[in-house]
Amino acid sequence: MLAGWLAAGVGIQSDGDHRLLPLSDLAPADADAGFEGHAIVRRPSLERGPQHWRDRLDPSLMETLDPFLPTAHEVQGDVLLVKLEPEVEAHEKAIAQAMLAQFLHVRVVCVDGGVTGPYRIRDLRVLAARGADASTETTVREHGLDYSLDPATAYFSARLSREREGAMTLIKAHQAHLGRRLVAHDPYAGVGPNLGLPLQNGAIEVAVVGDLNGQAIPYLRNNLSRIISKSAHPEARLVVREGDGREWQHDPDVNRQADVLFVNLPHEGLNHLTDLIPLLADDALVLGWALVDRHQEGAVAARVHAVFDAAGWQANVDVQATKGFSTTRTMVRLVVRATTGS
Ligand SMILES: C[S@@+](CC[C@H](N)C(=O)[O-])C[C@H]1O[C@@H](n2cnc3c(N)ncnc32)[C@H](O)[C@@H]1O
Repeated sequence: MLAGWLAAGVGIQSDGDHRLLPLSDLAPADADAGFEGHAIVRRPSLERGPQHWRDRLDPSLMETLDPFLPTAHEVQGDVLLVKLEPEVEAHEKAIAQAMLAQFLHVRVVCVDGGVTGPYRIRDLRVLAARGADASTETTVREHGLDYSLDPATAYFSARLSREREGAMTLIKAHQAHLGRRLVAHDPYAGVGPNLGLPLQNGAIEVAVVGDLNGQAIPYLRNNLSRIISKSAHPEARLVVREGDGREWQHDPDVNRQADVLFVNLPHEGLNHLTDLIPLLADDALVLGWALVDRHQEGAVAARVHAVFDAAGWQANVDVQATKGFSTTRTMVRLVVRATTGS
């Protein structure tokens, strides 16, 4: 929708599974004129409600709690995750109700105790739900693709959403370079978002995906099978493995096959590289993300280079900071083009 077509100061309405966006006088009255297949319907406009969920709290509460109220939250599908300071815990239900009233597309509000353990899953507690369904299972839409998941049992984050778009561009270039569809391995796949776009695009012939977390596996399998079935190459083969990615090297079925390898284990993936190199085909693209100290891109590149060198591979290594994580740490994107030189 073009700038200026959205009516200012008028609420978005819900209508079953649809959301109704209010149009201004500048928007064309004809649905064929740029609404990408969306229909135009007529409804009385909503009175403008409070602009922020905080405005729905009791004013006396607001006065005492203001410095401690959350200033950010995350939404996955229709599940809202919010971190709460201890000072506001006694009023967590009122906060959750205010959020439910404000965000009409949210079904469940949970307090987020942070990411824990090797599976990087959230410590969640449901505070309030709209209706009877208080499950944290939900569906997230990213780049037009649906991923079912439960943030309480399997990792997902939209933080790398842009990165996954960038990965798609690199994969297409690698496909053009090899002149065929690719074999792609994603041993730390979570619920599958790295390979969604490449599969949908038809760039992949075989996707071998896995995770150590057994609870991620059904989501991973279902999400990617569904994407393949509606993709540009529905014959693509999906192999799903549960377990430690470092063990894949011992399986001749997956050894030396990967034209593309994802290493998406930001806290310790760099330590896994030696165990993952045996998975690579002769002319391979490795895409990884790592959490490192700020301004260490050069040192990380040298380290990765040394790992490939020790394994007898020639590697072109590019390491770029993507975004800050804290004042001292940053996420880096790793792009390695590796050849055996044979
Ligand atoms: C940062 S998440 C990335 C998930 C997914 N690629 C994404 O972007 O949403 C890392 C994933 O690796 C899994 N994991 C952790 N250690 C592992 C290991 N040794 N082998 C395989 N998977 C592992 C975790 O359960 C988690 O799902």
